[in-house]
Amino acid sequence: MLPPRLFTDIPVLETVRPPRVAVPPLPYLERYRNEGTRTYSVHAAYTECRPEYQPTIGAAEFDLPAWELPRDVVEVYRADPPAALEARYLPDDRAMFVVHPQVVADDPAEPWLARTAKLGRSRPPLRVSPGSSTRTLFVLDGHPHALKVHFPYRVSRYGRRMRDEVVAQAVTVSGEMQAWGGGGDPSFAFLREVIGVAHPRTESGESRGENWGYLVRDLRPFPYTEGERQLVPGFALYGRDRFDPGVEPLVVDLADPADPLGWILQHVMLPTVRHWIRCYMELGFILEPHGQNILLEIDGSGAVRRLVHRDLSVGIDMRRRRDIGLPDGGLNEYNRFEDGAFASIAYDRFVGGHFFGYLARELMDRNPRLSIEDFRKPCREEFGRLFEDHERYLPCSVHYFSEERDAHGKPLHHDTGERPAWR
Ligand SMILES: Nc1ncnc2c1ncn2[C@@H]1O[C@H](COP(=O)(O)OP(=O)(O)OP(=O)(O)O)[C@@H](O)[C@H]1O
Ligand SMILES: [Mg+2]
Repeated sequence: MLPPRLFTDIPVLETVRPPRVAVPPLPYLERYRNEGTRTYSVHAAYTECRPEYQPTIGAAEFDLPAWELPRDVVEVYRADPPAALEARYLPDDRAMFVVHPQVVADDPAEPWLARTAKLGRSRPPLRVSPGSSTRTLFVLDGHPHALKVHFPYRVSRYGRRMRDEVVAQAVTVSGEMQAWGGGGDPSFAFLREVIGVAHPRTESGESRGENWGYLVRDLRPFPYTEGERQLVPGFALYGRDRFDPGVEPLVVDLADPADPLGWILQHVMLPTVRHWIRCYMELGFILEPHGQNILLEIDGSGAVRRLVHRDLSVGIDMRRRRDIGLPDGGLNEYNRFEDGAFASIAYDRFVGGHFFGYLARELMDRNPRLSIEDFRKPCREEFGRLFEDHERYLPCSVHYFSEERDAHGKPLHHDTGERPAWR
């Protein structure tokens, strides 16, 4: 006989209560809940993307040209890809190769595109939806994933190339982060970059290899979980809706109306600070969790379950890795640092200025008793508590991009002389 059903077997009301707020799906948020957010630098709203491919004003979907190449004419990188993605992008002895349609249209004689067409066989295009970064494209069918493609045009401050070296590094970083798993913090998750394909280098001499390719990003946050979860990009918390500018920003709906400050600190700001520090201290990886690189994972009731990091083209502080005895592993030379200038840009400006500042302003506008210090002080204290000797690595003033560039067009940086506000 079955035992009588215990009272405690009944699911707690909390886990089944209906959502307090209807949150639009991720592809909608990516494109249309991002109004008014790109004001953090004079370059932030600049784009050389053709209007039809821009995430906000362009088509919601378009075709991504694809070829199939013999595997031995390309470089292939893997970090434990799901079987469905392996089968789709690396079938048998071949590799799929995808090229943004703007490259095909505007630069048909580009040598690596010419090599693709010469050695490859044209395949039916993939149907994609552009994400907020313009060059990362959500594939609309099959296993949830996105393709981060070569886009040699400027969006914001940078040209968005996807050189072999960058592709390889992202996959290596993904593998290391997967093995590390967040250092035991259950609020940490990330999007793995599981496959990379690029042309092999053929240029000789000292010049930087311009041979390019693409990355496959698994859109299931890792570690994998069960249950109803939805992703909300950081910027969609404070971004306005493209079609309904009067609608309240999501942070207002998701936060506890009785204590918005406590809510944002506990569920967004302090975990972001913790993740940034932990990743830096335990791997030497400099995460860039600005509003576009971090997502909230919420459950059916609108509660934040984890923060999900995306974009694994991180800076790598080699000093920290040496200090904790981490080998180079498979890391290449891309984005290695021997000083703390970039870590300051990433934390002080990307996290503090380009993300927390926007969140705080939104809440302060609606709660006039709140001041910016109410947000900054707890973050500074948490930072100091978890990373006491941070001044060994990070400069004592804020660093940021200067308007000068190196020989490859990469922005240089300078010391602003400002005192850090969030550490
Ligand atoms: N609200 C926002 N805040 C910051 N960046 C934004 C925002 N909306 C769109 N973007 C765009 O996202 C990109 C941010 O740059 P970043 O280097 O983090 O991304 P990426 O490497 O191009 O792509 P991904 O994040 O998909 O890996 C830029 O192209 C920037 O213009
Ligand atoms: Mg990004």
